Amino acid sequence: SLHKSQEVEQTYIMIKPDGVQRGLVGEIISRFEKKGFLLKGLKLFQCSKDLAQEHYKDLKDKPFFPKLTDYITSGPVVCMAWEGDGAVASARKLIGATNPLQAEPGTIRGDLAVQTGRNVVHGSDSPDNGKREIALWFKEGELCQWESVQTPWLT
Ligand code: TYD
Repeated sequence: SLHKSQEVEQTYIMIKPDGVQRGLVGEIISRFEKKGFLLKGLKLFQCSKDLAQEHYKDLKDKPFFPKLTDYITSGPVVCMAWEGDGAVASARKLIGATNPLQAEPGTIRGDLAVQTGRNVVHGSDSPDNGKREIALWFKEGELCQWESVQTPWLT
């Protein structure tokens, strides 16, 4: 396992407005909690169009970009920072494919969604984007430094 001095990987996970409106917050948080990642930040938040555009800036030339940013700003989202060795790739597996119809059963999107444009959850696609997105969505002081008592069994 990692030494304390080394940086532990963090991923930004966000329950999108459809997930909040459909009452899936507990269900989705539970999957990451049960997997054994460490929760470092959590808030319900309604974001600005500017923030949504910055978050998805790599997609700004895509035809679906305006609809995507309208959707993300349409209601509150749940912002989370989860930490753990390999957390970014593992969270992507728990989330499943972008198109929920192609997502495997057992994944969040595979179990809980049907439309690409309403796919209930976001997960960072690289450790660098994990860092970038956590810095974008959380202010200083909103992340907690703590260690779960479970940590020795899970790392
Ligand atoms: P992307 O980063 O490609 O997928 P993921 O969320 O799995 O990392 O796209 C970001 C979001 O944009 C995606 O979750 C849903 C939306 N989107 C569309 O609405 N239409 C599309 O054709 C694609 C590819 C994505």
